[in-house]
Amino acid sequence: MACTKFLTLNNGVKMPVLGIGTWQSSDAEIEIAIEAALEAGYRHIDTAPVYRNEAAIGRVLKRWLDAGKVKREDLFIVTKLASYANHPHEVEGEIKKSLADLHLDYVDLYLIHTPFSFVKGEDGGVKRDKDGIVEVDVTTNHAATWVAMEKLVEAGLTKSIGISNFSKEQVARLLKNCKIPPATNQIEHHVYLQQRDLVDFCKAENVAITAYSPLGSRGIAKINSLVGVHRDLPDLFDIPEVKDIAKAHGKTPAQVLLRWIIDTGLIAIPKSAEPKRLKENLDIFDFELSTEEIDKLLALDKNIRICDFSIFQGLEKHPEFTFKNQYTK
Ligand SMILES: NC(=O)c1ccc[n+]([C@@H]2O[C@H](COP(=O)([O-])OP(=O)(O)OC[C@H]3O[C@@H](n4cnc5c(N)ncnc54)[C@H](OP(=O)(O)O)[C@@H]3O)[C@@H](O)[C@H]2O)c1
Repeated sequence: MACTKFLTLNNGVKMPVLGIGTWQSSDAEIEIAIEAALEAGYRHIDTAPVYRNEAAIGRVLKRWLDAGKVKREDLFIVTKLASYANHPHEVEGEIKKSLADLHLDYVDLYLIHTPFSFVKGEDGGVKRDKDGIVEVDVTTNHAATWVAMEKLVEAGLTKSIGISNFSKEQVARLLKNCKIPPATNQIEHHVYLQQRDLVDFCKAENVAITAYSPLGSRGIAKINSLVGVHRDLPDLFDIPEVKDIAKAHGKTPAQVLLRWIIDTGLIAIPKSAEPKRLKENLDIFDFELSTEEIDKLLALDKNIRICDFSIFQGLEKHPEFTFKNQYTK
């Protein structure tokens, strides 16, 4: 089993349309998951320094590369510029830290993680006051940071550069102020949050879309409750249309949700730390949805943002924060 479909990015680089997400996994979990994912045939891995597991992922990559079990050119590794380092002078140092942890000389894609920025706390995370309110860094200047991102390509530290969580207006502004256009915009995208205007705009501008939380981020409730955010979130596996289509193809709801993303021309990065589910999520290249089925799923959009960054109270004060969450007025 392997991901047999690739999307050609605007710089000619081929990106596997399915990758493994790695958010919310401990070191021990992620080592097992990445080992199982490579074994199952995954070659595209999505990570970020804020997931705090790049070093564990790097240990597995090193084992596989040293043993000759995989060639570097067959891997597609994505990581991100942390939201507390959204400044031109931090870009090179940050990617070099990620590369050292990942045991790589280059990544395949380096993303600006968010259009908004935080101040870094002493624990290496986000700085919060005694009430838990995050300190935002309002000096964010995408065009200036992007110049430093472009230099990474020239320096051979990444093959491609891109953005994440950017709105249509933010993408448009960046496109007017860049030498190298972003290869992808990684955004939350699933049947209940389709962001058609943003997706269509990016497609028209040749900026590929990577869909994060493609299964509805089933583990987010755990994080929400840790910081006292209480939300009733939908279970995408329970949607009748998804269940019916799954039954018709002899597939699971997860496989239908992922196949729909791919059949609509996007890239999906589902996270699982369970070897069985990792295999299930990869086993989607032996069927296709019909136009009718695709349209049925397109009609499900409810504009429900699951990763609404509510866990970062105070963020709504940042001028580049464009999401709606329980704190935005
Ligand atoms: N750029 C950003 O700001 C951003 C934000 C969020 C996410 N991301 C990236 O996108 C990746 C995916 O998003 P996500 O982690 O939020 O959510 P997701 O992939 O939509 O959902 C992951 C959850 O679904 C469960 N799951 C996975 N496959 C399953 C299956 N076949 N059947 C049943 N349950 C299944 C996982 O549990 P188990 O692990 O127990 O299987 C986990 O709890 C992240 O890991 C990260 O790499 C990026």
